[in-house]
Amino acid sequence: MSVLIRGVRRYGEGEPVDVLVEDGQIAAIGPGLTADERTDVLDAAGQVLLPGFVDLHTHLREPGREDTETIETGSAAAALGGFTAVFAMANTTPVADSPVVTDHVWQRGRQVGLVDVHPVGAVTVGLAGTQLTEMAMMANGAAKVRMFSDDGKCVHDPLIMRRALEYATGLGVLVAQHAEEPRLTVGAVAHEGPTAARLGLAGWPRAAEESIVARDALLARDAGARVHICHASTRGTVELLGWAKAQGIAITAEVTPHHLLLDDSRLQTYDGVNRVNPPLREASDAQALRQALADGVIDCVATDHAPHAEHEKCCEFSVARPGMLGLQTALSVVVETMVVPGLLTWRDVARVMSENPARIVGLTDQGRPLEVGEPANLTIVDPEASWTVDGSALASRSANTPYASMTLPATVTATLLRGRVTARDGRAQL
Ligand code: DOR
Ligand code: ZN
Repeated sequence: MSVLIRGVRRYGEGEPVDVLVEDGQIAAIGPGLTADERTDVLDAAGQVLLPGFVDLHTHLREPGREDTETIETGSAAAALGGFTAVFAMANTTPVADSPVVTDHVWQRGRQVGLVDVHPVGAVTVGLAGTQLTEMAMMANGAAKVRMFSDDGKCVHDPLIMRRALEYATGLGVLVAQHAEEPRLTVGAVAHEGPTAARLGLAGWPRAAEESIVARDALLARDAGARVHICHASTRGTVELLGWAKAQGIAITAEVTPHHLLLDDSRLQTYDGVNRVNPPLREASDAQALRQALADGVIDCVATDHAPHAEHEKCCEFSVARPGMLGLQTALSVVVETMVVPGLLTWRDVARVMSENPARIVGLTDQGRPLEVGEPANLTIVDPEASWTVDGSALASRSANTPYASMTLPATVTATLLRGRVTARDGRAQL
């Protein structure tokens, strides 16, 4: 099956061109390409062609909480959001701490076929923080696990983290840290600051994140290892990342769309939809995160898509589960916070949502240039469109979006995975 994309601008630059996709690859690029009657034509006049997005941080909840998301519904949300690869976090039930689970997730993702679902392996058995998993067995299994994280929990024991970095370095895989010193966040539900104090919510201090970022940068330095920081959320983390990178430490970091757009002033209503880990910080933190993403101190955007059931979110703030949906709204939030204010161009969007995450995790078939002979993992975006978010209309099995009723810029009009159209005009193509 071939696909002809008509009238698109690569990276939103230059003259419109036609892009012919055949056998899973970009076969031709040029003005006025022709196609036979069996070719699927996508009219993309005025639209932007980008490499398919790669999400290093997704919670798909399968196995164990299929009432909130499945690999199928999460894959549909990903394809609709413009993603061609997602990394599914290990905090499932059972935990993805052995090849039995990681290979199952990988195979189920292949069966669904909407997006490459790469399982993340746990760093410690059962996410308990005490015993390293058999990373090599997961790395060498069918899923070829290349990223390990206890996300949801921090690998807080410094000796365990040190050994994890050493072990991962030998295997050539990435450790991604959920930076949260647990002794500083006992009972915490909101960013520690004036808002939480006024609302009577227990605070999660910035230092809980920053102390782990600093420690892990030093551990990575001494181990000659790479470390990736999940969901950076404070201006202090930005300063530490800048410091560590300037020392030549192999540290990378992601920021979520919600930490770019939202801040703790949203907590006024005590609506559990705004509870997330790390918590929404202050406007000055969001500002620092935007600047860091623009400057390259933060390498990429990752969604931390975290579906939760209605009864787990529509309850008292302090018992609401932390987490928010993110896959279908990620691009629009990045456009709102970064492209509209002129902090990023469309080419930069390709860098922070596709090329950099692919590079960080070592995917060779994603985040590729938009050139003939490259794999056709592609996202087509209408930069002029806008849409109003409705949680119940999202493909996810859960509806916990903090953007409900917000009108956001830009829509993903189509996504292609190895040349197959996986989403089109707001519908996933199962
Ligand atoms: O808000 C969050 N939700 N942060 C995490 O680290 C885990 C995630 C989840 O699994 O729901
Ligand atoms: Zn996390």
